[in-house]
Amino acid sequence: MIILGIETSCDDTAVSVIKTIREHMQSISHVRFSQIKTHAKYGGVIPEVAAREHAVTIIPTLDSALKKARLTMDKIDIIAVTQGPGLAPALSVGIDTARVFSAIYKIPIVPVHHIEGHMLSVWPIKGIAGSAKTAPHFPMVSLVVSGGHTLLVLIKKIGSYKILGSTCDDAAGEAFDKVATLMELPYPGGPHISKLAKSGNRRAFEFPRPMMHQPNLDFSFSGLKTAVRYFIDARKTLHKKLKCDIAASFEEAVADVLVTKTEKAIQQYTPRSLSLVGGVSANSYLRKRLQRSAKLKKVQLYLAPPLLCQDNATMIAMVAGLHKTKGSVSIWKKLNPKPTWSVSS
Ligand code: KG4
Ligand code: ZN
Repeated sequence: MIILGIETSCDDTAVSVIKTIREHMQSISHVRFSQIKTHAKYGGVIPEVAAREHAVTIIPTLDSALKKARLTMDKIDIIAVTQGPGLAPALSVGIDTARVFSAIYKIPIVPVHHIEGHMLSVWPIKGIAGSAKTAPHFPMVSLVVSGGHTLLVLIKKIGSYKILGSTCDDAAGEAFDKVATLMELPYPGGPHISKLAKSGNRRAFEFPRPMMHQPNLDFSFSGLKTAVRYFIDARKTLHKKLKCDIAASFEEAVADVLVTKTEKAIQQYTPRSLSLVGGVSANSYLRKRLQRSAKLKKVQLYLAPPLLCQDNATMIAMVAGLHKTKGSVSIWKKLNPKPTWSVSS
């Protein structure tokens, strides 16, 4: 089965092709065009601007993915496309592209939940560096950390997801981005904070860890961001060493909260495996902390491969592959974006 994945939920225009043979998956092409340069000027993603960029880029991206795969559209068995959640005008571009090619070539469409894509990105796929060798055992607890989401999800099997906890305000990635803006770092700030933190002292400042000691599995990051804001406002200038210490102390606070809540989830649900996925899963310090914690709790940890941490279309195609669905040809007539779609099933 040859599956073409399309992802346009936020600020990445991505098209991938994967091949599935029974339960085995192989990456054939993986193309991602990031709009970061455009959005950096505004300090965040503007939905209409994102949609316009997707509209310009989607066909060249699709063309490039097919060329790299040495395939033509008529050889595609399924089109997997992100239906939500995400920015409605951005999602529409990917969905409309899928609809047009589905109608013309009579290719079935599989609508995919973006967060399910992140969660299934840790399944084994050949041709993606750092991908697991064996499929995770269930039940699995997944820590999903991205620019728009912070979730702890219990995966009982593929397609069966229970949200155990989520953020009450900002997502973890959003907190990274907002603190980076306070420190006048470029957008998106996560990778820049992470880089500075490597040379900083993680114990320099004691920033708050909101909700960390509450028994529930929910998160809150807005108070932490505000604490950093007050701290920065109270200083006239931020020299390099101070910036590194703020970044390190902030990263420590975020990691403490994420790891503590994940450990609580492990304690309550005794999963056989644990995963870390989403844009913030690229954070090397968080990866290290969770590795330590998984070892201690004797649970098998699956980290998203670096290429699949950020938004991409391979994970979207993988969802269709792992569900072993044939999709639907007629769905193109009525497929609409679902900007606020819950992953809970
Ligand atoms: O999953 P993603 O690509 O897009 C969404 O679906 O939101 O996640 C993007 C988020 C941004 O907030 C970005 O700052 C964050 O992931 N991020 C990081 C790192 N790399 C990306 N945050 C912390 N450390 C990183 N190394
Ligand atoms: Zn994402």
